[in-house]
Amino acid sequence: MENFAVNERGHLLIGGCDAVSLANEYGTPLYVLDKGMVTNRALEFKKALKKYYPNGEVIYASKALFCGALAKLLNETDLCIDVVSGGELFVALKAGFPAERIFFHGNNKSEFELEMAVKNNLGTIVVDNWHELLLLNSVADRLEKKQRIYLRIAPGVNANTHVHIQTGQEDSKFGFTKDDVKAAAKKAVQSSNLLLKGIHCHVGSQITNLDSFYHTAKIMDKIKTDIEAELDPFNFKLEELDLGGGLAISYLPGDLSISPEEYIKAIYKALPDSSLKLRVEPGRYLVGEAGITLYTVGSSKDIPGIRKYVAVDGGMSDNPRVALYDAKYHAIVANRPNAPSEEKVSIAGRCCETGDMLIYDIDLPKLKAGDILAIFSTGAYNYSMASNYNLLPRPAMVFVSEGKKELVVRRETYEDLLLRDLAIKE
Ligand code: LLP
Repeated sequence: MENFAVNERGHLLIGGCDAVSLANEYGTPLYVLDKGMVTNRALEFKKALKKYYPNGEVIYASKALFCGALAKLLNETDLCIDVVSGGELFVALKAGFPAERIFFHGNNKSEFELEMAVKNNLGTIVVDNWHELLLLNSVADRLEKKQRIYLRIAPGVNANTHVHIQTGQEDSKFGFTKDDVKAAAKKAVQSSNLLLKGIHCHVGSQITNLDSFYHTAKIMDKIKTDIEAELDPFNFKLEELDLGGGLAISYLPGDLSISPEEYIKAIYKALPDSSLKLRVEPGRYLVGEAGITLYTVGSSKDIPGIRKYVAVDGGMSDNPRVALYDAKYHAIVANRPNAPSEEKVSIAGRCCETGDMLIYDIDLPKLKAGDILAIFSTGAYNYSMASNYNLLPRPAMVFVSEGKKELVVRRETYEDLLLRDLAIKE
């Protein structure tokens, strides 16, 4: 938990800001993101990639966490971003992110979304399947525009991670099969307005094993050669290779994580050609450990010999990852982080569902109502997967850095909950 310290008041500091003061000022639950750490990680990734592949580019996977302020922050680091929906694309464009540095993923983009992308001169659309290939070409024809594309492939790699976040196995909803992609590439090359530039894959997320990345790179290289052989009559070469994201981060102290340098080195071992235009798409690595969520402790229930539940004022509505993937988190008491552990408790959410838990079995000081609990490594896939379950308003988000704070997303209000409800007029 590298970017945290304790101040003279005995409170947890994140990005140089007092976590308890943040909770008092903005309320809880509260997402806090250390933007200095995000910038450092973005630059660290770029440096590692450029060391092995000077023509390479880092693309941030915005599904991990996205809002206007983050789009602006990443724009300053010169990274590219990928989006997976018209919504993410809309936010990116509204934040002034340059369209040519945007990649568009997704396994079922609508005609409306494809049109939005082509009209806005998006850098690259990653075509996932036959339906999309034909649809995109007709959209590009109609708009009389040439569109750069990649083809997404399911390379048949079973990455060692939770089955719900494996994506590169043969039995996957994503991408062309290894066999089908040759015909798809031929079709793309013959299409009037599609410019086939490269192939793409993403085999999964929170992957702790470097071998998965090495093997994926090897397989994708072979597929690239096969496609080029098939397209020999057209004298066609694939210029770019995009291997997706997936690096594991630390959720618990001592967790195995993968650094950009180790990751790129594993790819380089498989593909030792520094002239390659390699693209990689980390999401979680850039934002995951930079984020914490602050909660206020409320009720508790002690079942002797079984379990002590302590409830906080958020839950699966701001972090569904425990219920979805059995994710594990670490926490401390932000108002007395140095207090010794006294008992084993389980941190429950406030949603009406038994699976609404944030942490099972953690040793903490005796918690009392009003304590501020900080849960670590919540920067990725929490804000972006939050819901209004039980009509709980979604939390605010604050960026912190070098002792300065900035509210970048305000807390939802009860009035917000009625914005789309047409039956109730104020
Ligand atoms: N590229 C593509 C095409 C992806 O689908 C993803 C993530 C990434 C890049 C970034 O992967 P990362 O570096 O963040 O692992 N909701 C799940 C994670 C789903 C990941 C989906 N794709 C979770 O909370 O663990």
